[in-house]
Amino acid sequence: MNAAAIREKWNRIYRDWNGPFPAAATVLSENAHLLPLAGGQALDLACGLGGNAVFLARRGFEVDAVDISEAGIHALGNIARKEALAIQARVADVTEIHWPAERYDVIVVSRFLERALAPAIVGALKPGGLLFYQTFVETKSSLSGPSNPRFLLRDNELVRLFGGLLIRYYRDETRTGNPNAGQRDEAFLIAQRPFS
Ligand SMILES: C[S@@+](CC[C@H](N)C(=O)[O-])C[C@H]1O[C@@H](n2cnc3c(N)ncnc32)[C@H](O)[C@@H]1O
Repeated sequence: MNAAAIREKWNRIYRDWNGPFPAAATVLSENAHLLPLAGGQALDLACGLGGNAVFLARRGFEVDAVDISEAGIHALGNIARKEALAIQARVADVTEIHWPAERYDVIVVSRFLERALAPAIVGALKPGGLLFYQTFVETKSSLSGPSNPRFLLRDNELVRLFGGLLIRYYRDETRTGNPNAGQRDEAFLIAQRPFS
């Protein structure tokens, strides 16, 4: 699928959206105690409707939110204006953007996988900055998420992709034990850029 087709697919989904405003990703909401107390600069990458961006902005972060879908960014812009949240929501193909060096205290990526971006994500974190990442695994037990293996994580893949960072949290239960309990569809990583 090319960029135009991806954009159109997600525009359609977000224009037809009549569910509740999406909650922040579990990796972020369940580990919010790890966020810097002073707030700072944050990035919600491939933000969709912006559940992570809104979560962070409500906690005092200044958030850049980027997505290829105009419909998603438009909806997020409306919420940001209504609540006077510090969110800069912009339409862009994240495989084409210029990545600033050492800009962000926090970067969140949920349900999006573009492996080639890993070095740019690491480079955009400030020393001590945190990456919260959550997306689908190839061993997922439900039908939710993509079926194309290109967009599914292999065992320990987030750890390998972000091996230059300090791992603060990692969860990938794959099919061990009772597959009907726990978190079986996604892997969860929180990693920190070393201070020096
Ligand atoms: C499964 S949604 C996840 C949205 C959001 N992160 C969340 O967890 O709710 C995947 C998102 O990636 C966006 N996306 C896909 N390819 C992209 C690209 N090349 N650049 C920017 N956004 C992209 C889509 O528009 C869509 O909003």
